[in-house]
Amino acid sequence: LSDPLVDSFGRVHNYVRLSITDRCNLGCQYCRPGNRAEYTSQTDLLTFDDMVAIVNVLAEMGVTKVRITGGEPLLRPRLEELVARLGAVSGIRRIGLTTNGLLLASKARELRRAGLTDVNISLDSLLPERYAQITRGGDLGRVLDAIEACFEAGFETLKLNVVLMQGVNDDEIESFLRLTLNYPLQIRFIEYMPVGMQQEGWNAKYMPLEGILAQCAKREWNARLVEPADSLSNLSFCGAADDAGPAKYYRISGAAGEFGLINPVSEHFCMACNRLRITANGYVKPCLYWNDEWDLKPFIGNDERLRQVIRQSLEAKPQRHEMIVQPSHKPSQHVMLRQMSQIGG
Ligand code: GTP
Ligand code: 5AD
Repeated sequence: LSDPLVDSFGRVHNYVRLSITDRCNLGCQYCRPGNRAEYTSQTDLLTFDDMVAIVNVLAEMGVTKVRITGGEPLLRPRLEELVARLGAVSGIRRIGLTTNGLLLASKARELRRAGLTDVNISLDSLLPERYAQITRGGDLGRVLDAIEACFEAGFETLKLNVVLMQGVNDDEIESFLRLTLNYPLQIRFIEYMPVGMQQEGWNAKYMPLEGILAQCAKREWNARLVEPADSLSNLSFCGAADDAGPAKYYRISGAAGEFGLINPVSEHFCMACNRLRITANGYVKPCLYWNDEWDLKPFIGNDERLRQVIRQSLEAKPQRHEMIVQPSHKPSQHVMLRQMSQIGG
């Protein structure tokens, strides 16, 4: 191992989010700005060889987990080949995929065989018409098929991401909580973040997650915070929570699954940030929110230069995001150059 990836605030980075395409087969209201998104041309996308070369260098610097994101990563042909190649990189222990699930059902088994360990599926409504509306055209049935296929393929846990939006899907909190009673799912409620085009009109839909525990209490559900060591996700974490993500998990008494709260807005978790991002066109991005990014493409094939640029990006990583201006709680006027769909969450 070369020196670990520590930034100027002492944060150790062992987790990389690798966006493999900025294309998506959906246009979720909170993520992709209608037809205003311009896709990266095929020639500017990293190839699988490029990605493996970058992850090799990162693994030598202490990265143990790769999460494949998009756009929609299943739009990239031969994803299973990428998973297998990343899994063969020495030091990489977990390979996750964040997907909308539309193309997943027929691929789940193959991906699992290739070495995929963790699947996170974005699912913001359990009502077919509403799902289609939020996603601009998605078919809920296909996502439900994908969930079933993941269980059949033997993934131990499955995370469902629910971006909560006031007046859009906040009346479904209880339906999602009920899912955890019978299924070993981790339902993660996520605060809507003002990123990119979402800065406009964000205030009207944003809601903090604090009300969810009160809803459990109202149903007389005893929801207990689950320590990382007991959490379902640790079934698949080899007992180590050191590459864990931003969610805090709770379990309703007797439930098969858990629910998680991801609250980047009301309670930013930047001090625990362990992530780097690689964009589909090959830039290393040390923070989701800030625009600064460094092009790695010119240095692929020269590991020493790659290491230098990655370190340079970490040295410049800011202490925290500033999505919200206090005390007004308005989104910051900071102009973001990338949309969420071009970052991969
Ligand atoms: P795992 O812990 O590997 O399961 O990853 P995750 O939960 O971070 O991944 P996922 O792609 O499912 O993202 C869930 C939500 O967390 C999305 O809304 C992401 O945008 C958000 N998120 C992930 N990483 C960060 C981060 O570093 N900062 C902020 N503010 N949000 C993040
Ligand atoms: N706020 C919060 N989460 C978001 N995601 C996309 N856009 C936003 C946003 N504005 C989530 C998606 C996906 C994950 C990668 O990021 O739901 O699950």
